[in-house]
Amino acid sequence: MQTPDFRLNRRTALGLIGTALSVPTALPVWAQESRRPRLDVPYVPTPQDVVDRMLDMAKVTSSDFVMDLGCGDGRMLVTAARKFGASGFGVDINPDRILEANDNAKTAGVADKISFEVRNLFSTPIEKASVLTMYLLPDVNLQLRPRILKEMKPGSRVVSHAFTMGDWETDQRAQVGVRDIYFWIVPAQVEGKWTVREGNDTYALDLKQTYQKFDGLATVNGAVAKVTGGQLIGDRISFTVEPANGRHRIFVGKVDGGKMSVDTASATDVARDWSATRAN
Ligand SMILES: C[S@@+](CC[C@H](N)C(=O)[O-])C[C@H]1O[C@@H](n2cnc3c(N)ncnc32)[C@H](O)[C@@H]1O
Repeated sequence: MQTPDFRLNRRTALGLIGTALSVPTALPVWAQESRRPRLDVPYVPTPQDVVDRMLDMAKVTSSDFVMDLGCGDGRMLVTAARKFGASGFGVDINPDRILEANDNAKTAGVADKISFEVRNLFSTPIEKASVLTMYLLPDVNLQLRPRILKEMKPGSRVVSHAFTMGDWETDQRAQVGVRDIYFWIVPAQVEGKWTVREGNDTYALDLKQTYQKFDGLATVNGAVAKVTGGQLIGDRISFTVEPANGRHRIFVGKVDGGKMSVDTASATDVARDWSATRAN
């Protein structure tokens, strides 16, 4: 995996931002100041080829509800609605941007599918989004990260132009020219204690999760075993239970809130008939 060059992107973004922040001179300075909302991120639009790639990476379809936090002129949602028939909602703290976004939606004939509102992104609920798009700044992404993991449904997708989400590893990344795009799938939350039943065996699991990966310990018929290679792709889960002296078992399944159950099983050491419930 390549190391992202934040400096390049930050410099590129911030360089563009300097131009973007220049204000019209028709109004006296005091009037400009009073009209200007305090921005946590300056306005720099995402180039259209990057917008297209971001939506392709998220595999947006007509059943998606796409949200763009800090939506600018609305191009992300206008494209999602026009190309893929998606619906969506965008917020921007600058009323001028929302006027432009609404105009652009009307011009593109998608105003029935998407809407825009003057709102602070930090107080905008995001649980409805099946896809979240962002072109913000690293510290803003980090502030949003716990909310993304808590509020968005497992399997929802997040795409960010230019900036990562700290130590949350990407599920995919791409480059369009000098622009980086980062993509994540929101994992189910499985940290904690679980009781797994497989036939006559009962496993007590204690799992430690780091984003889409986890490991931990299992007690199987009184003996301690390791839980290794735990992985989550949205609500799809897989992990291995490895007793010190015994055959390992592979669990593949689906997480649904406080329950897990078997999904597919093919190899001989894959548990075929199992389910689990939260134990704490
Ligand atoms: C870098 S631009 C991205 C615009 C658009 N998403 C795109 O990719 O073309 C960031 C946008 O965030 C908006 N913004 C800044 N702080 C905000 C806040 N606290 N709440 C909502 N929008 C904000 C700015 O007005 C600006 O339009």
